Amino acid sequence: MAPISDLAKRWYHFPIVLGSLFLIQFPNLHDPPRFIAEYVALVALWLAVVSPELERKPFSLHRAYPALVFSILLVGSFVSKMILMRFGLFASPFFAPILLLALLTDRRLSVNVAVFFSVMLITSVEPTPIRFGLILVSNIVAAVTGSGLKKRLQIIRPAFFTALCNVLFLVLSLFSGESLSLDRDLLVSFSAPFLFSVVDLGLLPFVEYLSLVYSDIDLVELGNMNHPLIKLLSLRAPGTYYHSTILANLAEAAAEKIGANPILARTAAYFHDIGKVKRPYFYTENIQDRNPHDELNPKLSHLIVQDHVKYGLELARRHRLPLLVQDVIPQHHGTRVQKYFYHKAREMGENLSEDEFRYTGPKPQFKEAGIIMLADSVEAAFRSVKNPSAGRIRSLVEEIVSGIYNERELDESGLTLKDLEAIAGEFAKVLLNMFKSRIEYPKEEIKRVIVLAENPDSKPNEAQSSDQEDSKDR
Ligand SMILES: [Fe+2]
Ligand SMILES: [Fe+2]
Repeated sequence: MAPISDLAKRWYHFPIVLGSLFLIQFPNLHDPPRFIAEYVALVALWLAVVSPELERKPFSLHRAYPALVFSILLVGSFVSKMILMRFGLFASPFFAPILLLALLTDRRLSVNVAVFFSVMLITSVEPTPIRFGLILVSNIVAAVTGSGLKKRLQIIRPAFFTALCNVLFLVLSLFSGESLSLDRDLLVSFSAPFLFSVVDLGLLPFVEYLSLVYSDIDLVELGNMNHPLIKLLSLRAPGTYYHSTILANLAEAAAEKIGANPILARTAAYFHDIGKVKRPYFYTENIQDRNPHDELNPKLSHLIVQDHVKYGLELARRHRLPLLVQDVIPQHHGTRVQKYFYHKAREMGENLSEDEFRYTGPKPQFKEAGIIMLADSVEAAFRSVKNPSAGRIRSLVEEIVSGIYNERELDESGLTLKDLEAIAGEFAKVLLNMFKSRIEYPKEEIKRVIVLAENPDSKPNEAQSSDQEDSKDR
């Protein structure tokens, strides 16, 4: 059971549970003892199954998550009850709030909310084992099959399985002697889940816009490089744009490997340095001939470079980027020290402490943010390396990962030592593939030279097009 201080922190949960109950329980309000008993039971259930889930990262990081659960419960329970009273249980969209939550959060949270929501809803109808079974099973099925969807079309999966539950319980109702009109009820019980799943998909963009909690479906769309901020980055800071795309590949592969969210990792990687669109030529990857920092005091250089975090966050808020993508912007540097400028200041005889060259944080708060911090350093370290061996790549990656781990920057990220080992392995694999393709590139050039040598009359372009034709044929 949660300590008293935790309960006090969550005081606002209780009136909301009460509010939901009022909304769906108005026929039972004439029986106050029953209402109070149901309320106490529901609060206990809430504290046992939903509260601990909301205390888990990333849901504990933003008030938007409990607010989302409460709003979905309030509206969902009211609408479900209304339709249930008017058209019957099999036409009710009682699973739709849970499906919406499954699309926006994760399986564990939505299954637990499904249990709570089912018990709350059953108090408002004449409870029979079949009704309770239908509501509970359909809600859990919606939570399990609806989480982790990456394409809109995949909504057919939860729709089909909840429709199947409906039909199954309809048959059970018939056997238990309930008076039902078979043709009508069969049609309704099978088609209602498809209809309400599509309604959920329609609601999704609005809920995302208001809450800034994004489903994987729309995170994929955000990461398709058509976003105005990404376009701006590619025009103003091409070096950072290239750095972000490599980072996205590294972060996605590592997140996939350790069971974190690869879609979140990829999308957040695209936006992590978006603040560099302001003064792009102060960042290594965009510096061409003249390094502007040569003429600046190291402390000032540090302040300018650090500003990309503040400005990035400002842009992300203005463009209403998902909360977790916004979080990655300050967290990818955590509270690390900008060692280059710190050592430069020391060499210049300035007596400044390391803390004056520290990013303001916070440290990475979830796995994907930790992965991006690691990938950021790895990509930067390998930028100037030319064709290293597999062993050298592996040892350099391990050196960087263990360096950041020893700085204790990953303490709050939830990454374990086992995860770090897997991440380092995956980074090394992606980098090796990148270097291999860099090495293989000249082979194409050599092939073209051979074609030119064999056909001295052909122009270089012709040689190239004959090459393309070749590959087309293959
Ligand atoms: Fe950065
Ligand atoms: Fe970066």
